[in-house]
Amino acid sequence: LRCSGSNWLPLQQDWSTRWCTVPEGYAASRVHALETRDDDVFVVTYPKCGTTWMQELAWLLLNQLDFERASSVYLRERSIFLEYSGISKHKRRDTIQLCEQLASPRLIKSHLPAQLLPRQVWQHKRKIIYVARNPKDVLVSSYHFFVGLEYWTGDLNTYVDEFINNQLVYSSYWAHIVDFWRLRHDPYVFFVTYEQMKRDLKSVIEKLSTFLGVNSLSAQQLEQLIGHTSFDNMKQSKYANATGLLKETQKTSTDFEFMRRGIVGAFKDELKTASTFPLIRLHCAGSKEINNWLPLQQ
Ligand code: A3P
Repeated sequence: LRCSGSNWLPLQQDWSTRWCTVPEGYAASRVHALETRDDDVFVVTYPKCGTTWMQELAWLLLNQLDFERASSVYLRERSIFLEYSGISKHKRRDTIQLCEQLASPRLIKSHLPAQLLPRQVWQHKRKIIYVARNPKDVLVSSYHFFVGLEYWTGDLNTYVDEFINNQLVYSSYWAHIVDFWRLRHDPYVFFVTYEQMKRDLKSVIEKLSTFLGVNSLSAQQLEQLIGHTSFDNMKQSKYANATGLLKETQKTSTDFEFMRRGIVGAFKDELKTASTFPLIRLHCAGSKEINNWLPLQQ
């Protein structure tokens, strides 16, 4: 994302050229100036926190459980990724224009930190669904993602260091989460964790329906929605799981998976091989305010 002000760069220089190359003239100011609508809903996350899962859920709730459309139209067309213009170097998309063309109620995805979201989101208090996840699982999930896309060639230990030192794409995990954590009691913010979704999706859906102002679901509809958004079902759907699309349009490793394991605590199998010192620092790097936050304890 190119912009002039120095604290406006969520992406490190080398990452921005490798990953988020944008068309000329596609400035942060255009994202910032997006005209919002009364019924817009933003799904905001730090990458790999469960964005796709939440998008599929929220899109269905906002669209009267239209399973047919969800099973025939790519999620990335139903819910636009605000600041990411390209899935391949040769196919740039003007996502601002796509957002403008999207029918209401729009569900807009963004990984931008609070201060970089369209200013009208804050001016008009648009609805925001924020999904957070245990940083260690985020770290492992994003490590495999970037290795699979051949954007990261270093080892896991180095990746851990860069994560802690905010050197990665979208910069600081902590700064991102803390801003929304502080807003978690605001009526226009729905703050939820990946771990809560795994533990009790039913109650998350019930609360989310109330937040979105949609009719509560019958027991049968609830079961259907839970089934549709299960890891296994979404993983085998090319419309929800971006693995196929990424493999077609980008250079990926043969075993690349956008949806890998979909579990809580996957880090335990991998971070034991990384030095434990950075992990201790990972805790310390967090705001004291949320050091007792449940996902960190797991
Ligand atoms: P893993 O890499 O740990 O498997 P995002 O959508 O923000 O990029 O997050 C991706 C992570 O969410 C991946 O984690 C992916 O497998 C997981 N995920 C996606 N859909 C899911 C679902 N329906 N249930 C559980 N986890 C899901």
